[in-house]
Parts: sequence; structure tokens; C-alpha cells
Amino acid sequence: MANKERIAIYPGSFDPLTNGHIDIIKRALELFDRVIIAILHNPSKKALFSVDERVKMTKKCFNGENLIKVDAFGGLLVDYAKMKNATAIIRGMRAISDFESEFQMALMNRKLNKEVQSVFLMTGLRWIFTSSSIIKEAAQFGGDISDMVPEPVKLKLMEKYPKVR
Ligand code: PNS
Repeated sequence: MANKERIAIYPGSFDPLTNGHIDIIKRALELFDRVIIAILHNPSKKALFSVDERVKMTKKCFNGENLIKVDAFGGLLVDYAKMKNATAIIRGMRAISDFESEFQMALMNRKLNKEVQSVFLMTGLRWIFTSSSIIKEAAQFGGDISDMVPEPVKLKLMEKYPKVR
């Protein structure tokens, strides 16, 4: 096989990016040359941050890291992956509860395009309980989420929820 650059797509809502996501990205960079964080533009899903806000704050979190790109996409993930010459889709796995929907999505993606492989990476134990939704809920009611999200995300959460610590 030709020795070509290995590009992985890390897709998701990232509403917002958490330290758990960052942990997965670092692990992905041990396997791939470049990772593209692809934020889904999905008008039917209610989000706290607009896609534009998410792209901007996620970019801030990886300022100067040239192996990591941040982008937004719409439509089929496998089409986006093909357009970017990516060979893999990365998904983080926390617990068994993640498995069923991830399995279904991976099989659908494989049916749609056999050339893109789904790669599941386990988050560090430290992040096993974190998710964007639970962090937003804690932030909304003034919980301390400062060690669960990167600084640019914390600042944006403070704009939305002034009580957050
Ligand atoms: O962070 P999320 O919300 O769990 O991410 C879900 C995401 C963006 C990976 C998934 O919804 C997706 O890939 N959507 C794009 C549409 C698509 O390709 N669907 C077919 C495969 S299920």
C-alpha cells in the first residue's frame, strides 16, 4: 500500500467540546497523521451554541496545533470523509451504554462507504462520566465545571450561564 498521509475525521455535535473529547483527539493522533474535528451542522437538533460559535471556540482550544483542523459539515459523514481523503472516523467510547448506537452508526457508515473505517477509542477513566450535555446541565445551575472543559469553552459557558464556576 502506498505510504500516504493518514487522516481521521472526528465527527460530533461538540456542543461544547469537553476535556473528554480532547483526550480522544490526543489518542487519535497516536494512530493518525492528522485529525479533522468535524462539527455537524444539524438544524433539526437544538443546540446551546451555534455551529459558528462551536467552530470558533474549538479552534481556540487548538491554536497552533497544526495536526488538528476544525471544520463544520452537513449531509452524510462518509461523503465528508471522502471529500477530505480521510480513511477513518473516530468515535469515543465511554461505557457499554454508548455501544448500541455507535455500533448502528458504524454499520450504516460502512454500508454507505466500505472504504472508511470506524475506529473506537476509549476515553481516559477520568472522563468516563463527562458529556457535553451533563456539563451544560451542571453549568446552567452554577456547578463547577472548570476541570472538565478547556478554558475557551469555560469562558463561552460563562457568557451563557453567568452563575457557572
Ligand atoms: O456528537 P454526536 O451528536 O453523537 O455526533 C453524531 C454524528 C455527528 C457523528 C452523527 O449524527 C452523524 O454522523 N451525522 C451525519 C449524518 C450521517 O452521516 N448519518 C448516517 C450515519 S448514522
